[in-house]
Amino acid sequence: MRAMMKTTVKAVAVLAMTTSLAKASDVEVLHWWTSGGEAAAVGVLKDNLAAGGTGWVDMPVAGGGGEAAMTALRARVTAGDAPTAVQMLGFDILDWAGEGALADLTATATAEGWDKVVPAALQQFSTSDGKWVAAPVNVHSTNWVWINKAALDATGLAAPTTWEELVAVLDKMKENGITPLGHGGQPWQEATVFDGIVLSLGGDFYKSAFVDLDPAALGGEQMAEAFNRLITLRSYVDDNFSGRDWNLASAMVINGEAGMQMMGDWAKGEFLKAGKVPGTDFVCIRFPGTQGSVTFNSDQFAMFNQTDAGKQEAQVNMAKAIMDPAFQSAFNVVKGSVPARTDVSNEAFDDCGKKGMADLAEANTNGALYGSMAHGHAAPASVKNATYDVITAAFNGEYADGAAAAAALAEAVAAAQ
Ligand code: GAL
Repeated sequence: MRAMMKTTVKAVAVLAMTTSLAKASDVEVLHWWTSGGEAAAVGVLKDNLAAGGTGWVDMPVAGGGGEAAMTALRARVTAGDAPTAVQMLGFDILDWAGEGALADLTATATAEGWDKVVPAALQQFSTSDGKWVAAPVNVHSTNWVWINKAALDATGLAAPTTWEELVAVLDKMKENGITPLGHGGQPWQEATVFDGIVLSLGGDFYKSAFVDLDPAALGGEQMAEAFNRLITLRSYVDDNFSGRDWNLASAMVINGEAGMQMMGDWAKGEFLKAGKVPGTDFVCIRFPGTQGSVTFNSDQFAMFNQTDAGKQEAQVNMAKAIMDPAFQSAFNVVKGSVPARTDVSNEAFDDCGKKGMADLAEANTNGALYGSMAHGHAAPASVKNATYDVITAAFNGEYADGAAAAAALAEAVAAAQ
């Protein structure tokens, strides 16, 4: 309680400071893009807005995956002063729209033809009750592995395409004296790894368990196997993994201290920021066994209702700037993600970005594109949080085996609905 009050007081203090500095033509933007690569991407967005005369008042809330940002947002709204624009994921957007808190962007969306260029999988979260309530800035996906090229070469093995090959590479890296898996022990990071593991056991299984929330899939044999694999991965992290931020785990792979990281493609932003080149310094592969399928999440900007006409105009300007095709290219090249529009050329993207765009299109065509559970696109926050608890407990050895963890998962998800 005290901690929550502190957060609220802090949020109100930030609010007082920002409102006194803000002009009507500014947007105050709440986001969680605070790592090196993320901050570079924010810079691209800020510059694009500035070019159109819209100023930026920053409200960063650190914490990968955005949990802390969503807590800060709730405090701001409760205090009666919502930020102008908020970075948001999947079901969170729909929740806020359901509360009637979001501005209607339909007039702008219609005038600019967003419905023709934004994939249906994204529109599902940009629209509510037939109205546009958010502007998607990118598509990320979670089933990626980022490998240090020199560390991979030192194993004498090829980039793994199956679970067995993955374990062989990890074992060899251990023998070679490095930490095989760069990982940060935070629930959302373990959940991100688990997205890939569950998907590697089959797209239909992923969908039954994480999208349809079928109790038999959540608590069955395949889920037991998924947890056994997660428990196996625990043996490849270093002793100091607990609580480590994701970008510090990326840094371990970048500098060769660790062999690989299983993380969404925002990790690529860190490699690029460090001057690393795909194919030369690092290798990007889909989580072994998941090539052809994609678990996605999309960062969207939702605009919170404002009464001031100047602020409303700034919101429209921001939404238009986000959807500009040239911006979508420039931003996503830096961020590690791919454009949220289907009509943007892949020309400016590096090999991993080109692969990301091709994989997304292929998965979309083949019905193999699924919302990421870890990043709020498979189920509402209550269910997502319930999965976090079980996944993290399993990673930390709190269940006798995978079957016990699967049983706990089915129970936790049922209770959360
Ligand atoms: C994700 C978000 C990404 C990236 C990541 C780590 O949820 O979609 O843009 O920021 O968290 O912070």
